[in-house]
Amino acid sequence: MTNIQINFLWTEFESPVFNASGPACTTMEELEKLWKSEACAIMMKSATYEPREWNPEPRYVDLEMGSINSMWLPNLGYKKYIEFSEILKQKYNKPVFTSVSGMCMGDFPKMVKEFQENSQVDFIEVNLSCPNVIWKPQIAYDFEATENILCLVENLWDKPIWLKLPPYFDPIHTNQVAEIIAKHPKIKFLTCINSVGNTLFINPEKEEVVIKPKWGFGWLGWTYIKPIALANVRAFYKILWNKVKIIWVGWIYSWRYVFEFLLAWASLVQLWTSFVQQWAEVFERINNELINYLKERWYKNAEDSIWKLKEL
Ligand SMILES: Cc1cc2nc3c(=O)[nH]c(=O)nc-3n(C[C@H](O)[C@H](O)[C@H](O)COP(=O)(O)O)c2cc1C
Repeated sequence: MTNIQINFLWTEFESPVFNASGPACTTMEELEKLWKSEACAIMMKSATYEPREWNPEPRYVDLEMGSINSMWLPNLGYKKYIEFSEILKQKYNKPVFTSVSGMCMGDFPKMVKEFQENSQVDFIEVNLSCPNVIWKPQIAYDFEATENILCLVENLWDKPIWLKLPPYFDPIHTNQVAEIIAKHPKIKFLTCINSVGNTLFINPEKEEVVIKPKWGFGWLGWTYIKPIALANVRAFYKILWNKVKIIWVGWIYSWRYVFEFLLAWASLVQLWTSFVQQWAEVFERINNELINYLKERWYKNAEDSIWKLKEL
């Protein structure tokens, strides 16, 4: 019997794969679909302190090999996700994650405290890869702001904190962020990576950009970002292997990518685009494919493949 369960802390994940935060986990109806699927956990949409509306359309466009978007973080506000966590935990038996995105520094500790003390979520993902102030970098590219937020949220109670990070493109930056994270032992998990920001696609026939907000500049996902995600997972593993666990996001489409990321030391994987393209069936398909592949390779457990990547 091949086993794809992953265990860490006190939690048993039935498989390594679940959804990343994004529009398809915003409402209770969407979250219930996730519960019924073979996703190993339920991630909710990134919550802000106040509810937020959508950017004007077109704000999301499927591309030949991925997608570009600028949604403006539409969500129902954190209070709704506290309510949803109660319902999800009462009715269903799966780990539940919240994701929090502050629009100013003070929003982060306020929301984390509420989710720590008054919600049923098992884990809190702090999304540092969103711009919170116009004309300032996303938080995780501002190392002083990152350090301040970690100081503000780390001691608010004992539910584990995960950081969702953007991609880093220079090893010096990866080292600097890793140094900050290492100073905060309560940070136990990193989710790498969020969509790649500040990208541009144009339609040459129409002679125009493809999305309306921000002059066409938007966030890129799926196939384009996989090597960047893989390199970020591996780079953080190299520096922080004994301090954090790493969750990979960025073009998970089949067992092959899950296996690659386990080899490179991701403990779990999240997917967004594949989920919205194929809905809940994607989890069942990938889990079955992964079981078959591990059997072929004589692995008894998915966990045995973590760490195994050889270097030449
Ligand atoms: C339309 C859209 C909305 C997203 N919203 C969020 C969000 O609210 N919070 C977050 O942490 N990531 C968000 N993401 C990023 C995804 O969670 C994920 O990191 C990214 O899409 C890469 O995964 P993929 O290649 O499987 O799509 C969003 C992505 C897309 C395409």
